[in-house]
Amino acid sequence: MRKSVKTKNRKEAATKVTATSRLKQPKAAKATTEREAFPVAQPAPGIELVLADALQWMAERDENSVHAIVTDPPYGLIEFDEREHTKLRKGKGGVWRIPPSFDGSKRSPLPRFTVLTPADRERLTSFFAAFAYQAQRILVPGGHLVIASNPLVSSTTFAAIESSGLEKRGELIRIVKTLRGGDRPKGSEVEFAGVSVMPRSSWEPWGLFRKRISEATVADNLRKWGTGGFKRLSADEPFRDIVEAAPARDVERAIAPHPSIKPQKLMRHIVGHVLPLGKGVVYDPFAGSGSTLAAAANLGVKAIGTERDALYFAMAAQAIPKLAAL
Ligand SMILES: C[S@@+](CC[C@H](N)C(=O)[O-])C[C@H]1O[C@@H](n2cnc3c(N)ncnc32)[C@H](O)[C@@H]1O
Repeated sequence: MRKSVKTKNRKEAATKVTATSRLKQPKAAKATTEREAFPVAQPAPGIELVLADALQWMAERDENSVHAIVTDPPYGLIEFDEREHTKLRKGKGGVWRIPPSFDGSKRSPLPRFTVLTPADRERLTSFFAAFAYQAQRILVPGGHLVIASNPLVSSTTFAAIESSGLEKRGELIRIVKTLRGGDRPKGSEVEFAGVSVMPRSSWEPWGLFRKRISEATVADNLRKWGTGGFKRLSADEPFRDIVEAAPARDVERAIAPHPSIKPQKLMRHIVGHVLPLGKGVVYDPFAGSGSTLAAAANLGVKAIGTERDALYFAMAAQAIPKLAAL
């Protein structure tokens, strides 16, 4: 058995979490295999949060063992690395732009993906290809991957995901008015008063991918695995590829001050429709503040999340029951 807790940070987070939720060893830790024993919190019934690197955890997970993956990954990879993260936490910018107040609205920090170099994009491609390889291995046949992106990097990440064998089934477009983009040229705002350097972003793409069905028809796949499609909005209305969802509300940000928190309204919509028969386990590899797991807890869906950062792991462990109760 390898060492169960690798870093001081992990130990600290595990200690903090014990106060608010029960820490237990995952079942895999009892097995006589070489599997890593990651710290696990159970912040709500049916919900497990694991302090782990997603790719490492997925590599150790059994094949065909999750029914959907719903996630919001680190789009640019660099924004959550230690160097950029330290700058964010010190309020020192870096790839995280902390824009000034504008028209009375104070902007939240946003990562600047326009600074990605060709080498960063190559790293992005290899990371998402490796991620998608593991995702299609652990998903049951017909299980969906629903993955957030943004218009600047989605072509790169979605192509990498498809290259690993998952079938692209469309995109879910979230209509969301943000304060990203739309600015006049920096330092020459008066001279070029009529120019927007980039469009003000008003939508967010979520890639929809499916692991190939194993049965001859979707109906047979639904019977065998419970997967293959989405739950309809109602008897008269199919699941649609567009959804309106404003950024997370102040009350959600106060509970979970993560720079990339997704709103409960959106996460409940996705988690509530990604299991066509309402049966199975949803996995969020990049759990952040735990918004996917909180949505699952609210809907009574079983879910597992992994988060690599010890502070976000501790934040999510205490935030999940509170977000779920909103
Ligand atoms: C975009 S944020 C997710 C935010 C989340 N959707 C929410 O609503 O709070 C991505 C998260 O993935 C985590 N992360 C980055 N790389 C990871 C990895 N290899 N394994 C697990 N977590 C990782 C980051 O620490 C960050 O919290």
